[in-house]
Amino acid sequence: MVNSSGVKIAPSILSADFSNLGEQVAEAAKGGADMVHIDVMDGQFVPAITLGPQMVDALRPWTDIPFDLHLMIAEPGRFVADFASAGADIITVHAEACTHLHRTIHQIKELGKKAGVAINPATPISAIEDMLPDLDQVLVMTVNPGFGGQSFISGMIAKIERMRGLINGAGLKAGLEVDGGINLGTAKEAADAGANILVAGSAVYNDRTSVAEAIRKLRESLE
Ligand code: DX5
Ligand code: ZN
Repeated sequence: MVNSSGVKIAPSILSADFSNLGEQVAEAAKGGADMVHIDVMDGQFVPAITLGPQMVDALRPWTDIPFDLHLMIAEPGRFVADFASAGADIITVHAEACTHLHRTIHQIKELGKKAGVAINPATPISAIEDMLPDLDQVLVMTVNPGFGGQSFISGMIAKIERMRGLINGAGLKAGLEVDGGINLGTAKEAADAGANILVAGSAVYNDRTSVAEAIRKLRESLE
C-alpha cells in the first residue's frame, strides 16, 4: 500500500488538443502535474500513429517537469537514442515489443535516462520479474494500449497488488505506474492497490473541466 500523498499524476497528452500541444503541456505543469505522459504509437505495435522524437523535441521547451515516454512501438531499441536526445526523462518500452528486453533497458540506462517496462493486460508479471532490479519504473496497463478513453479493466487490480508486493518484497525502488481508464472512479482503487504513478488522459484533457481542476479533483479523490 502506498500513501496517497506520495502518488504522482501524469497527464497523458493523447487526449489533448494536438493543434496546441505546447500550451497543453504547459497547462498540465501549471496545474500541478508531476510529469507529462507522452504516448508514442507506430501503427504496428498498436493500430494508431501519434508522434515521434521531433514532437518531443518541440514540446521540451514548454516545461521543466519530467517527460514520461510510453513507447508503444515495435522493437523500440531502434529509437531510444532519438527519444533520449529529444528530451525524454523516463523511457518505457513494452515487454511484448522487445525481442531483447534486457538489452533495450540497458541501452536506455546507458543514455542516462530512467528505464521502464510496460506489460499489456494479458502479459503475466513473470515476463518481467527477472528484470525488476534493473528498472526505474514498471507500467501495468489497465487497458489494451492503443487508444484513450477506454474503460479500466478491473481484473488488473489484483495484478497491481501482486506487482507492489514483488517490488516491496525485494526492497526495490521502482515506481509502479498504471495507465488506462484512470478517472475519479478508479484512481483511488489503483493507488490503494499499490500504484504510485497514475496516468490519466481523458480524465484530465476534456471539455468538461480545466486541466488544473481535473488534476486537483483526481488528487482529492485519493484522500
Ligand atoms: C493508451 C495510452 C494511454 C491513454 C490513456 O494506449 O497508453 O496513456 O492516453 O487514456 P485514458 O486515461 O483516457 O484511458
Ligand atoms: Zn500511455
